[in-house]
Amino acid sequence: MAFISSTRAIPEALQVPRHVAIIMDGNGRWARRHFLPRVAGHKRGVETVRTMVKACMARGVEYLTLFAFSSENWRRPEEEVSFLMGLFVSSLESELNKLNSNGVRLKVIGDLSRFPPRLVEVIRQGEELTAKNSRLTLTIAANYGGRWDIVQALNHLSSQNPGKAGAYSEDDLAPHLAMAYAPEPDLFVRTGGEQRISNFLLWQLAYTEFYFTDQLWPEFDDAALDAAIDSYRCRERRFGRTSEQLAAILAPAATDDA
Ligand code: IPE
Ligand code: IPE
Ligand code: MG
Repeated sequence: MAFISSTRAIPEALQVPRHVAIIMDGNGRWARRHFLPRVAGHKRGVETVRTMVKACMARGVEYLTLFAFSSENWRRPEEEVSFLMGLFVSSLESELNKLNSNGVRLKVIGDLSRFPPRLVEVIRQGEELTAKNSRLTLTIAANYGGRWDIVQALNHLSSQNPGKAGAYSEDDLAPHLAMAYAPEPDLFVRTGGEQRISNFLLWQLAYTEFYFTDQLWPEFDDAALDAAIDSYRCRERRFGRTSEQLAAILAPAATDDA
């Protein structure tokens, strides 16, 4: 099923964000504050993931997308990278059955070709096991980069249309993006105080509402999510239109009298 593109049509602005995308940042700083090694922060971060999956389901969010490892995170010290790979495997192994019984569909986006074979296998098993679930779609972005996504989509599209050059539209490209199975995010959250995208969902965030918090990912909780959603609710999502146009759509009678 194709979802509405925010640049091609006007999506519905819902009270509860249908899709929340989060950059889970600040694990290392959380660990340092507690005089622990960085990897202890990553371990704690997995607990926040568990909390957020439950919290999103309870609030009626249908898609939760989490940035777990960027295409640039390979630049980190080797021990940290290999710890993270091990943590992905062990977390997936221990959580899969619970996710499945709670109706969660797991998806992993990113270039899996650089991952250890065991990790790729667990990901594939998890995606297969949960493929028919529909309560919440949990997407983990791993070795993901927004630029990588656009380039892989373009390569995919052009390989299907040999000889056709220079005449592609947004609608041609969109189905080849890694998250074509999901609507565009309504709410983007970044913990840890930085105000940047760090090569996350470049294409898909075109009209997403942004929310930045200084809270570190291991300390992000239900109340913090509610604060983000409250902030989202106060936004006027104009998608290029004027406030007056929106007011006329929302309360046509009131504007007729004016
Ligand atoms: C985010 O926390 C987790 C990953 C990028 C894997 P960081 O590890 O970036 O934590 P800080 O930014 O150093 O505090
Ligand atoms: C972004 O965090 C990537 C993830 C959370 C997975 P980083 O900590 O890697 O981002 P930068 O380097 O500070 O931009
Ligand atoms: Mg960071």
